[in-house]
Amino acid sequence: MKFFVDTADVAEIKDLASTGLLDGVTTNPSLVAKTGRDFIEVLKEICDIVPGPVSAEVTALDHATMVTEGRRLAKVADNIAVKAPLTPDGLKACRALTDDGIQVNVTLCFSPAQALLAAKAGAAFVSPFVGRLDDIAIDGLGLISEIMEIYNAYPEITTEVLVASVRHPIHVVEAAKMGAHVATIPPGVLRAMFKHPLTDRGLDAFLNDWAKTGQSILKQPVAGDSDDRAPERRRA
Ligand code: G3P
Repeated sequence: MKFFVDTADVAEIKDLASTGLLDGVTTNPSLVAKTGRDFIEVLKEICDIVPGPVSAEVTALDHATMVTEGRRLAKVADNIAVKAPLTPDGLKACRALTDDGIQVNVTLCFSPAQALLAAKAGAAFVSPFVGRLDDIAIDGLGLISEIMEIYNAYPEITTEVLVASVRHPIHVVEAAKMGAHVATIPPGVLRAMFKHPLTDRGLDAFLNDWAKTGQSILKQPVAGDSDDRAPERRRA
């Protein structure tokens, strides 16, 4: 499963990118507005930090202007993926931008029928919003399951399911069990995925026991001591 981070906060992206776990970024007009910054400037900075797909959403409603906006956004950086809404105009724009060779992330998907249309429009990604369905007592993960069932039935469908509107780690885990290609994860949820009380407790116990030995790895004599570089190993 690929991990994208769902934010336009450059500091958050920089911090999480340093973990080596980020495969891309998704933004949307609300996330960009939250930064209070210039959209194009923010996109340039994000694209310099994360080499993977960076989703930037058009704001027009008619397909001609969506295409113009999408082509402008795609000029910001090679790794820009243009986000278009799951509307008739959005899918027309998706087809046109895809024919330009621009990756399109079709967003605001809430039904299997919509996901099928996005695939037929040639979308690189479709973003089903699981959290917003859960918010109204509809099973968001059930939508992921239905979309994966449909997409897996047609080898010619290359659209990747990009699970969006993630509210907690279980959304990521359960979507991964279904084979969803990507999850776009808010920074707080991504950080929560690291946490387990038994890990913290176990580490404390290891280090308490280690401290009793009075030893230090940095001080124990080792052959080739003078050189801090990694020893020769065949890289994976
Ligand atoms: O950015 C797309 C999607 O992940 C946003 O969902 O519900 O957190 O606003 P939400």
